[in-house]
Amino acid sequence: MADLQFEPAMPLSDLPTGKMRACTIGGREVLLCHTKDGLHVIDNICTHAFARLNEGRLRGTRVVCPLHGAVFDVRDGRVLQGPATESLPAHHVRVTAGQVEIALDPAAPPVLAEF
Ligand code: FES
Repeated sequence: MADLQFEPAMPLSDLPTGKMRACTIGGREVLLCHTKDGLHVIDNICTHAFARLNEGRLRGTRVVCPLHGAVFDVRDGRVLQGPATESLPAHHVRVTAGQVEIALDPAAPPVLAEF
């Protein structure tokens, strides 16, 4: 974790438990979710087609894609229900002095352009 580049995303007070918000970190659109299990960050663009997950629903630790209903676990990005088959990259998050900071996973593949 030593060389992770954390960037400020938003004040924690802007994201109550049970809510999610999209933001852009290092040019990548990510989804910050505040669940009862804590804060989690995954890519915001569904791996099935082009849809923004922040326009879907957060249910506990699961996010439902608004386009075709795929379900992802926000804790690690894995697919819980199709039609998506590819997991979402999960990123690193921490809170410093009330500010949520995010570091992208250096191993995350590039995001496809909108199509
Ligand atoms: S675009 Fe998300 S399930 Fe199809």
